[in-house]
Amino acid sequence: MTTLSRDTGVSLADRTRSDFPILDQRSSQGSPLIYLDHAATSQKPRAVLDALEAYYACDNANVHRGAHQLSARATEAFEAARATTASFVGAAGPQEIVFTRNATEAINLVARSWGDANLREGDEILLTLMEHHSNLVPWQLLAQRTGCVLRHVGITETGELDLDDFHSKLSERTRLVSLVHISNTLGCRNPLERVIPAAHAAGALVLVDACQSLAHQRTSVTTLEADFLVGSSHKLCGPTGMGFLWAREALLEAMPPFLGGGEMIQDVHLDHSTWASLPYKFEAGTPAIGEAVGMGAALSYLEQIGLETIAAWEAELTVHLFHRLEAIEGLRILGPTPQQQPGRGALATFLVDGVHANDIAAMLDLAGICIRSGHHCCQPLHRHYQVTGSARASLSFITTFAEIDRFADELQGVIRFFRDNA
Ligand code: ALA
Repeated sequence: MTTLSRDTGVSLADRTRSDFPILDQRSSQGSPLIYLDHAATSQKPRAVLDALEAYYACDNANVHRGAHQLSARATEAFEAARATTASFVGAAGPQEIVFTRNATEAINLVARSWGDANLREGDEILLTLMEHHSNLVPWQLLAQRTGCVLRHVGITETGELDLDDFHSKLSERTRLVSLVHISNTLGCRNPLERVIPAAHAAGALVLVDACQSLAHQRTSVTTLEADFLVGSSHKLCGPTGMGFLWAREALLEAMPPFLGGGEMIQDVHLDHSTWASLPYKFEAGTPAIGEAVGMGAALSYLEQIGLETIAAWEAELTVHLFHRLEAIEGLRILGPTPQQQPGRGALATFLVDGVHANDIAAMLDLAGICIRSGHHCCQPLHRHYQVTGSARASLSFITTFAEIDRFADELQGVIRFFRDNA
């Protein structure tokens, strides 16, 4: 696909919207449905729905077990999805991709397996104030088990990672730095190209939560040189119930299993067992086969469009979203502007003087516009801003300029309504 802009007349959204059957509907009030909650979950293209149907209609069987043809085809489709995932993130090979239920489970896997085996009292894990609960709570549980210490990097006035604070808290005691690539709330893109080399120089490993970046910009583990990276299928146009952990092969080899059961073993005796090779050592029980196939189809779909094309279109949309929101009196956006941080995430989280975020979201819903309100699984970050919640509009490549304009117009009407009736 060519680079697209507002002026070409045919945008990336124009080209791709017909791939998404869910957009062929009106809201319950009869207005066009506008979905601006892509950071919570993405919509699914026909290619993914077709892959799920074809898998269940033609190939469904358990994997790695049967001698029959259905099992062979199911195994082939399942392992093809792993190879697609490996290539999508630039992994050295499919053995570095562990399928999990979601990104949360992938982080728990690292905390339980690597964390329990390697961390001792006094060791430190460096997190950030902007982390999703999934990148806070597993480490709190690990700290309770091991006595390791959790430290948190703060944010700047503009809502970006405070690199000075990061450097001041990084030390030879730091064993792991675990942070989000693009914040689901601030939308800032963290400077991993500076964080990762510094962490490695201090002797720490780095885990990257890439849930909000993988569907929006090219995210390569080879370029990043991280140690662990987690992703979630449902944020990537794929089904729910599916995620993955990428880790360097040597790390995975050295890590003990996370869950025990079928699939992850080589030999089982009554009193002990030996483990399967990578990545199966970490995949106990029958996996989410259909969901893996669906995720593979989603990643292929995104590759077909091109992550660079997606990033270019979403950057234009984001500038427009900020332009419209910044014009609204009494509205404050959390996180850096696209001018302060080009390449920031395609979302805007905002507060409006005197109007509760939940009321904004509920009123916009009456106009057929879906946004998110609440703490976005980032309570500590909201506490930092001394609020319990915020409103968030999040975009994707199927978003149009017209949708952003309608959202901004309706939002102005909602704010006027509350101010007039205060
Ligand atoms: N983490 C998801 C969000 O940001 C659920 O909305």
